[in-house]
Amino acid sequence: MKKIFEGDNLSLLQKLPRAFARLVYIDPPFNTGQRQARERMRVKAADHGKRVGFGGRRYEVEHVESPTFEDDFDDYIAFLIERIEASLPCLTPDGSLFVHLDYREAHYAKVALDRLLGRDRFRNEIIWAYDFGGRPKRWWPAKHDTILWYVLDPKRYVFQFDEMDRIPYMAPGLVGKEKAARGKTPTDVWWHTIVPTGGKEKTGYPTQKPLGVLERIIKVHSERGDTILDFFAGSGTAGEAAARHDRGFVLIDENPEAIAIMSKRLARWGPEVVASSKQASAE
Ligand SMILES: C[S@@+](CC[C@H](N)C(=O)[O-])C[C@H]1O[C@@H](n2cnc3c(N)ncnc32)[C@H](O)[C@@H]1O
Repeated sequence: MKKIFEGDNLSLLQKLPRAFARLVYIDPPFNTGQRQARERMRVKAADHGKRVGFGGRRYEVEHVESPTFEDDFDDYIAFLIERIEASLPCLTPDGSLFVHLDYREAHYAKVALDRLLGRDRFRNEIIWAYDFGGRPKRWWPAKHDTILWYVLDPKRYVFQFDEMDRIPYMAPGLVGKEKAARGKTPTDVWWHTIVPTGGKEKTGYPTQKPLGVLERIIKVHSERGDTILDFFAGSGTAGEAAARHDRGFVLIDENPEAIAIMSKRLARWGPEVVASSKQASAE
């Protein structure tokens, strides 16, 4: 299944079938509120809340007026968590959730995700470290993103160790020729360049993530024939990584420019592109 949907992910996610995706990867914008002009909600865990979420947890949903969304932290997390919660039924029971975050949001998002899913479903905090751009002289240059990995079932999830790419030893002279030639498996700190300016991979979409990072996630956390869901899809990097490794994809974005870019990028795999007015169905 290879589909691209244009529209707001919250309403589309609610229309998608259950349990079709082995892996959800999302890279939400840092500050969605700036461009949104809609009613906002704040979701709070509450013992007697009317809404029942994942694992039987109860929530209260409060409608709030918030003209300065970009500065209102709770709203950003509520925006994110509400959408993640709506995506959970799309996951297979052994599925994984990867949430790619800015270092300014990661800890707030982790607390909210621990509350939503339970701390036992948290597996790893992956640090993607890169080295590009300016270096301030008054603090340590911030050159990393955080990717949180959660599983629906802590006893049963996909981790294809043998599919992992290998990386060079820091001191190859200490490990012998054969080992040095084979390389070692990565840890939870991933050094990977950003998408090179002017390189073949670059689509022109401002927040495009490197294919190498997505390929590692997709190869290790899904199998051939599986489907990957990315509901903040941007230029469609998760879709390309999935298709290159014989997986299907369901991609959602509300920005028509993103839809145009990912449709062109993924054209060789012949995805169905569903315009915003049409009903979502991943079947
Ligand atoms: C950081 S970008 C994703 C970049 C992507 N990972 C890539 O490699 O190109 C986030 C995307 O989320 C989209 N977005 C933000 N709010 C959305 C919403 N409510 N529904 C659907 N898409 C949304 C934006 O249009 C933007 O393209």
